[in-house]
Amino acid sequence: MSATTDLKRISVRDIRLRKGGEPIVVLTAYTAPMTKLLDDCVDILLVGDSLGMVVYGMETTLGVTLEMMIAHGTAVVRASRRACVIVDMPFGSYQESPEAAFKACAQVMALTGCAGVKLEGGIEMANTIAFLTRRGIPVMGHVGLRPQSVHALGGFRAQGRDGAEAAAIVADAVAVAEAGAFAVVVEGTIEAVARQITSIVAVPTIGIGASPVCDGQVLVTEDLLGLFNDFKPRFVKRYAELGELVTTAARAYADDVRTRRFPASEHCFGGGQK
Ligand code: KIV
Repeated sequence: MSATTDLKRISVRDIRLRKGGEPIVVLTAYTAPMTKLLDDCVDILLVGDSLGMVVYGMETTLGVTLEMMIAHGTAVVRASRRACVIVDMPFGSYQESPEAAFKACAQVMALTGCAGVKLEGGIEMANTIAFLTRRGIPVMGHVGLRPQSVHALGGFRAQGRDGAEAAAIVADAVAVAEAGAFAVVVEGTIEAVARQITSIVAVPTIGIGASPVCDGQVLVTEDLLGLFNDFKPRFVKRYAELGELVTTAARAYADDVRTRRFPASEHCFGGGQK
């Protein structure tokens, strides 16, 4: 039996069973090369719609399309062997009705081969999440700071600072979990809110800017690698400055080309003769 067939891919059930156990490690991935570098290090690879900002240079995630998510989701599933791959549903593809959401999610699942989808929203999405999960589509919820609602939320700002806002986020998480989500992303909330949600809901919470109390953590890979420098949210920890390495390498290459140090004879066919 080959190593490939020995390797068991992490399932949404495995993730669901990790509630309260070893923290769940999640990173975003949008491309095949990055997926190959991350696959063995994480439990979940999230094909986040953050790709609109990180890969396509958009100012928000609102312009991301279903086609983009399917193309990037397909690349990530193809290049991964171990991680559970979850694909974000883009803005406008699931909010209209449970039926419209099912059609879009089924397309994403069938065409990418991913293990499940993630969608943003709380109480207002609970019916849709129940509709999807009862029809075999594993759903990861996303409450708190929801980037697709950035205009309605008044910008990218921490959520749950006042009592009413905190109670609404907790109610959202409970509704999403009770509707059948296998895990819930909690984004940009104060620690007390994340703590309450994590202690109440039966499924794992995955925090981003929501403190260490969650059952797992997610970051945008380019943020932690220093490859996305448009802005750096407070909750990001930089583990490398690859952006600087890229610029240094590109400058060295440009210098070599301009001074004809590259290509050298070892890079040429036929001994570098013209
Ligand atoms: O789009 C994304 O990458 C996300 C995570 C940051 C949670 O939703």
